[in-house]
Amino acid sequence: MKVYFDNAATTSLDPEVLEAMIPFLENKFGNPSSIHSYGRETRSAIEGARKKIAELINVSPGEIFFTSGGTEANNTAIRCSIEKLGIKHAISSTIEHHAVSHTLEDLESKGDLKVSWVKFKKDGHVDLEHLENLLRDNTRTLVSLMHANNEIGNLLPLKKVSELCQKYDAVLHSDTVQTMGHYVHDMQDVNLHFANCSAHKFHGPKGIGFMYINGDVKIDPFITGGSQERNMRGGTENLYGIVGMAKAFEIAHRNMEKDQHYIQGLKTYMVDLLKENISGVKFNGDHDKSSLYTVLSVSLPPMTNGEMLLFNLDISGIAASGGSACTSGSNQGSHVLQGIDCDMSRPSIRFSFSKENTKEEIDYAVKKLCEFIELSNKN
Ligand SMILES: Cc1ncc(COP(=O)(O)O)c(C=O)c1O
Repeated sequence: MKVYFDNAATTSLDPEVLEAMIPFLENKFGNPSSIHSYGRETRSAIEGARKKIAELINVSPGEIFFTSGGTEANNTAIRCSIEKLGIKHAISSTIEHHAVSHTLEDLESKGDLKVSWVKFKKDGHVDLEHLENLLRDNTRTLVSLMHANNEIGNLLPLKKVSELCQKYDAVLHSDTVQTMGHYVHDMQDVNLHFANCSAHKFHGPKGIGFMYINGDVKIDPFITGGSQERNMRGGTENLYGIVGMAKAFEIAHRNMEKDQHYIQGLKTYMVDLLKENISGVKFNGDHDKSSLYTVLSVSLPPMTNGEMLLFNLDISGIAASGGSACTSGSNQGSHVLQGIDCDMSRPSIRFSFSKENTKEEIDYAVKKLCEFIELSNKN
């Protein structure tokens, strides 16, 4: 049996998305900047995709900018807002994706910025009182906090954070890569300046994403070059990626309620099955309250050869992860688990689900886990 439980790292391409992309890989190949009919045809596909995405998150099409994915959008939001908006202070957390934390550390090491790291509560949620204390600083501040953590699944109360930022006139950037295409985002409901999206997290193609930049915010491009994306991002557009992303986003919204209900059911089923079968099992983060329905971070009792668990699961055909995709192998490399004071002597595994998973796959994975634990106890 082959089981894919690493959907927070990436998802499979939806066949309907592939079908929408194929004409743009075959004969609709014009450069969207060309003024002849070939170019006009592909320009129209790009602007149609932008309009569709903008409608789904309730913004104007002029506030959507296509990027190569979440990493580029995070870099653009952080680096360009600091350069252009007179920001000298940033507040973020140590459990952000490296596309955010390494960018902030880089700017701090060059002397461009002071970074304050907000504290957490025991369940891994941001301490909002500490955030407010940090915001009392009198300099113009950028707050960069992710909407959902990709390793433990915790959800940030984005609206509350946006109200705090508004109170102190701070610029708010949220890495929304793990929630775009999984939850409805109504940008008129939160006072957010920058958000982002990566298509491969919801059955779209890799290497394409978008960033939302609130129309009131004026920054310079991160990638200079041609006048594409209304002078905000140089480079010939990833045409088939953009078309595929818009299709995947549309499908995700069309089926959102149904998929959410189904995937949450899988997660709850796995929690219950693990509790029944593995004594001392724990879950990292706030897994049953304010948590992404696609992610379950499991902390297993200490065992001999715990670092071999992922490898053994892989041999049994089960793909899971120790943390994010970039921290393969054991959880020792996970800055997120370290950041939330997780007991690092216990092996942790992240299972992340999609609409394509089944309860039978969970039965199989839990059975295999139990066998490994039993074997390790004998050694
Ligand atoms: C929270 C978060 N931010 C950013 C990224 C990076 O996105 P991309 O792969 O599109 O560069 C990821 C992907 O792993 C992610 O999970």
